[in-house]
Amino acid sequence: MLANFPPYKLKQLKVVVLTGAGISAESGLKTFRDNNGLWEEHSIEDVATPDGFERNSELVYRFYNQRRRQLLSPDVKPNKAHLALAKLERVLGNNFTLVTQNVDNLHQKSGNKNVLHMHGSLLSARCLRSGHCSAIYSDLDHSNQCDCCQPTNSLRPDIVWFGEMPKFMPQIEECLSQADIFISIGTSGTVYPAAGFVSLANQSGAHTVELNMEPSSGYNEFAEKHYGPATEIVSKFVDTLLKGFNFD
Ligand code: APR
Repeated sequence: MLANFPPYKLKQLKVVVLTGAGISAESGLKTFRDNNGLWEEHSIEDVATPDGFERNSELVYRFYNQRRRQLLSPDVKPNKAHLALAKLERVLGNNFTLVTQNVDNLHQKSGNKNVLHMHGSLLSARCLRSGHCSAIYSDLDHSNQCDCCQPTNSLRPDIVWFGEMPKFMPQIEECLSQADIFISIGTSGTVYPAAGFVSLANQSGAHTVELNMEPSSGYNEFAEKHYGPATEIVSKFVDTLLKGFNFD
């Protein structure tokens, strides 16, 4: 239930949602920290750092190629939690901002239009020299060349690795400073800057909500929390939120 929440009119309500790997777990994509610090049997240092890429780029290309193939397989589909967020965006329009740490495309597949991929995307490749990004749906390795430079340069996965700057930060901070509600879904709250969004939202006077399988690292900063599988608690929360408001 929404606790101590003032009766805003729905159309004026500004909502920022942050999602993490937990929202896609029931779509068959593994989370990062559920397996002794290993992500699909690889250490995060090996596959999610610039040093790891320098040490063994072939491993890193192969790793993200596998993730991309898995994502594009017909078995991986948006679940009820993704669909609930698409419904929320349809109602709130431009007052809804979806920030995701996920590199999958399940939010777009479920119908969300305005998605900020702060940690990049599996379906994007980045030029190692210019930083220019382009869409990619097949395997990537050193032989893929950019079409932005002369001479052409290699491409890397467009994933924000540890030690690199997340994308869209000024835009995200601006949205958080105006938010009425901030909802964090399926994230362990261990990776900054995303883990700090709840305190920014609290400073802006937003109502802060955590929806996760278990309490995250920053759970005590949230005003309201619900624990359980995302497919159950996200749609329930969205329905409660939408029912509680005057649609006039
Ligand atoms: N429903 C809801 N929450 C779930 C579910 C589920 N079905 N399954 C798992 N969770 C929760 C876990 O309890 C955990 O708190 O999702 C969270 C996933 O946490 P992480 O694996 O740490 O993923 P995330 O928070 O997205 O990681 C942040 O770390 O490795 C980097 O860049 C990578 O974007 C990633 C970032």
